[in-house]
Amino acid sequence: MNVLILGANGFIGSHLTEAILANTSWHVYAMDLAQDKIEKSLNHARFHFQCGDITKQKDWIYSHIRTCDVVLPLVAIATPALYVQDPLRVFELDFEANLDIIRQCVQCNKRLIFPSTSEVYGMCTDGEFDEEKSHLVTGPINKERWIYSTSKQLLDRLIYAYGKQQGLSYSLFRPFNWYGPRLDNIFNPKPGGSRVLTQFIGNILRGENIYLVNGGAQQRCFTYIDDGIDALLRIIENQNNCAHNKIFNIGSPFENISIRQLAEMLSQLIIEFYPTFAAKAKAVKLIDVEAKAYYGEGYQDVALRVPAIQRAKEWLGWEPKVNIKTGLRATLDFYLGV
Ligand code: UGA
Repeated sequence: MNVLILGANGFIGSHLTEAILANTSWHVYAMDLAQDKIEKSLNHARFHFQCGDITKQKDWIYSHIRTCDVVLPLVAIATPALYVQDPLRVFELDFEANLDIIRQCVQCNKRLIFPSTSEVYGMCTDGEFDEEKSHLVTGPINKERWIYSTSKQLLDRLIYAYGKQQGLSYSLFRPFNWYGPRLDNIFNPKPGGSRVLTQFIGNILRGENIYLVNGGAQQRCFTYIDDGIDALLRIIENQNNCAHNKIFNIGSPFENISIRQLAEMLSQLIIEFYPTFAAKAKAVKLIDVEAKAYYGEGYQDVALRVPAIQRAKEWLGWEPKVNIKTGLRATLDFYLGV
């Protein structure tokens, strides 16, 4: 099988590339702007990498959609601070650039595996979000945070419609706070410059305080990258067509913790297992901050976000295996250079 990965140097793309090369006989064709996260795979005989911008290298992309069996367009901005600061860029990249690729898949009759997001459920009040039943709830237009959620939602709806009306073969997957090595750059000192886990690790290393937005009572189901990749491999493999034209939540309902707990757990782990950084972790203070002050007026938050995973269990035979302490240790080993 030939797999096309656009955004192979990203967090998900780089882990997926490694896993495919290690565990399957598939070829990976790939494009990204940079190659620092996939350095190890560059010389692999089944890895065919092109450095480039997916919004510009149309000829390369179209010709590879034609020759590959399955397409994963993983390029997107996925950092909430940027949804608020630059919603147009989010729309242009996450929506417009990907729409073009989706249409090429329809035209060339290629299987599409597309990253939706847990964010499509927005502020849904269900205790567990169900792919086929839960309502997708966002805020008013002046809350720009929802540009990402609604861009992704409209793409989900288009893909679904292409499936029904024009025979597109697709799978949509919704990551729920996947984390692990190579998530974001912890040296980005901008508040909100990266997602929460890497933000907090960076805060501790720089000797800064940790800011808990609105007190940090909001909860997330943190899902270790290896579990996410395990699900993705099953979706790509598509045994007996098990992933055909389906939507899957891929998250760990068992690891539902508050952002305050995450900050506390991180500090404790560093103090216990990484003596070089223990003094820094001990010195960190947890400071409550209003969302408006941290992200600006355009931000709204999600209080509780738990995936229903029955469909992934039933169709893919998948469930998450890595508990949060193990996943955080592996992530810290990577970022703290152990
Ligand atoms: C994320 C992002 O939108 C995407 O990466 C992705 O599609 C999706 O969720 C997902 O991975 O499931 P969110 O979980 O809100 O959204 O993003 P984070 O930046 O990781 O923030 C998590 C929580 O921590 C938020 O409530 C935020 O307000 C809080 N936070 C963040 C703090 O309290 N302090 C900080 O310094 C940073």
